[in-house]
Amino acid sequence: MDQVSQVREKIDIVSLISEYIPLKKAGRNFKANCPFHGEKTPSFVVSPERQIWHCFGCGKGGDCFTFLMEYETLEFPEALRILAKRVGIEIQSTHFEAGLTTKKEKIYRLNRLALEFYHYLLTKHNVGKIALSYLIEKRKINEKIIDSFSLGFAPRIGNALVKFLIDKKKYNREDLNEAGLISFRQGGIFDFFAGRIMFPLFDHRDNVIGFSGRILEDPSVQISSKYINTRETLVYHKGDVFFGLNVAKDEIKKQERVIIMEGEFDVISSVQEGIKNTIAVKGTALTENQVQLISRFAQKVSLCFDQDKAGIDAVKRSLPVLEKKGLTVTVIQIPNGKDPDESIKENPVEFKNAMKNDIAIYDFLINESIKNFDKKSAEGKKKISDDVLPFISHIENEVVKEHYLKKLSTELDTSFESVVRQAEKIGKQTQKSTFRKEEKQKRDRREVLEEYLVALILQAKDVKDILGKTENELSEIEFKISAYKKIIDFLKTYFASHNIFDSKQFLRALPIELVPSFDECFLFPLSKFINEEKYELEINNIIKELIQIYLKDRIKAVSEKMKQIEKENKDSEELNALRIEFSNLVSIIK
Ligand code: GTP
Ligand code: MN
Repeated sequence: MDQVSQVREKIDIVSLISEYIPLKKAGRNFKANCPFHGEKTPSFVVSPERQIWHCFGCGKGGDCFTFLMEYETLEFPEALRILAKRVGIEIQSTHFEAGLTTKKEKIYRLNRLALEFYHYLLTKHNVGKIALSYLIEKRKINEKIIDSFSLGFAPRIGNALVKFLIDKKKYNREDLNEAGLISFRQGGIFDFFAGRIMFPLFDHRDNVIGFSGRILEDPSVQISSKYINTRETLVYHKGDVFFGLNVAKDEIKKQERVIIMEGEFDVISSVQEGIKNTIAVKGTALTENQVQLISRFAQKVSLCFDQDKAGIDAVKRSLPVLEKKGLTVTVIQIPNGKDPDESIKENPVEFKNAMKNDIAIYDFLINESIKNFDKKSAEGKKKISDDVLPFISHIENEVVKEHYLKKLSTELDTSFESVVRQAEKIGKQTQKSTFRKEEKQKRDRREVLEEYLVALILQAKDVKDILGKTENELSEIEFKISAYKKIIDFLKTYFASHNIFDSKQFLRALPIELVPSFDECFLFPLSKFINEEKYELEINNIIKELIQIYLKDRIKAVSEKMKQIEKENKDSEELNALRIEFSNLVSIIK
């Protein structure tokens, strides 16, 4: 057995996954809300028997390695190393060295070198002096914090980093390009970042995935952007990261709360002031991937965005993704209408009070709207309700929803009923756009029922018994998905020489290409049946429905074919055959 199989054999997938998410026993399997997409009813299934997992919502699935890779965003060699260590198997490194030098890991190494280079220039070198004094004197950031965020400086001379990485560290252009560290200009290569204060960006596992850089000059006299980020690379995806998560993650877990701010400096100043559960989205609205990531660390999110229109818009755009994930969301209102960075420096005590007095996001939205429009006039009432009802109408919890509908009706001095009616209208309108949930690719009813039927058979208490009882009916089904028909045929063959269904034994005989379909059916989450009779009745009903659907499909196809031939005016033999089939079909369906 190779090392990968050895590790897989020794890992118990149920105990592994339950270290990350709470699993609930459901029949022979375990269920949970899927950690990889937003959902509130569990469609994530783990099978101790098969040692695999599968999500029937988003379609992801696999074994212990794929779970860890997916959950921790790891490369395979890393996942293997972690799981091998857990079960006390030593990986012979020669075996996997080739795998270890994957492209991603090379980029991490390059970025790490760049970080060290920039950090050295900022803190030790003459070229970083102005930048250092800007940070310390103007932005009031101390050296300890500069170290803990590994801040750096990219000098204005256009190729300092290129020289360091290529001449000294012996990397080539292509490597640097893949890490996004260079740009091509006038036939030459230059450092991508120049004349900027550098903020390394980490994933939550401390890999350096990219950088953001702020120009040193007063941004108003500069032509280029105040901030630029690493362009998209194999490891840097704009909508997937937060600034500061690597520093903040333990504190976020401890406090069970994360404070999300807009900018790098907001976070740095907060941490310096002892507010350590803060991260930054870097000036955009939250994406689903970001919310997904953060929901692993805390269930409460406090948005602390600038108090301007852009900040309030960012709150509004972030809310649907947060609500969908079921997180508790509040807003921290920054004193004196400044950004967190300035507010903290001006009056840290006041800022900390504001942090404690955060308000629920829906209260915030109602209050803001009332500030903007005249709630006494009919026109103002319309504007306020148009403004906030799209959000309130999508609150998942009915009690909370009613609370805010009542609040709105009181504020607007209208009846509760009319607010409810308006909320229903608006709720329907906005359902399709902002609050839409991702759907699995649509399958037709026939395909869904076929899967369900095979699931019922495979998960029956006595598979052989069920198969025997339904043999005749089953043979009448024309399967649309041939994999299911083949699985049924293999089951019949299996029971010719076995009495008890053992998935391990059965899979030995099953061709490898049928295993994914088998697993989906074997793990398919079935509802509870009161007794065996009900279970068998369900199977019989599904078979009947499948036969009916097939007959209808076939009748449609046959009659279309007949029409076509009649149109062409050929009185062929084929038409006769079709007529006979048609009348046969019609008589069966009755
Ligand atoms: P400082 O002047 O450095 O304190 O910036 P700020 O945090 O006050 O900036 P602002 O409120 O304008 O923007 C908030 C965040 O948005 C910044 O911290 C950056 O992360 C990001 N940002 C600002 N300007 C730009 C830009 O021109 N390009 C990009 N990509 N991001 C920006
Ligand atoms: Mn600022």
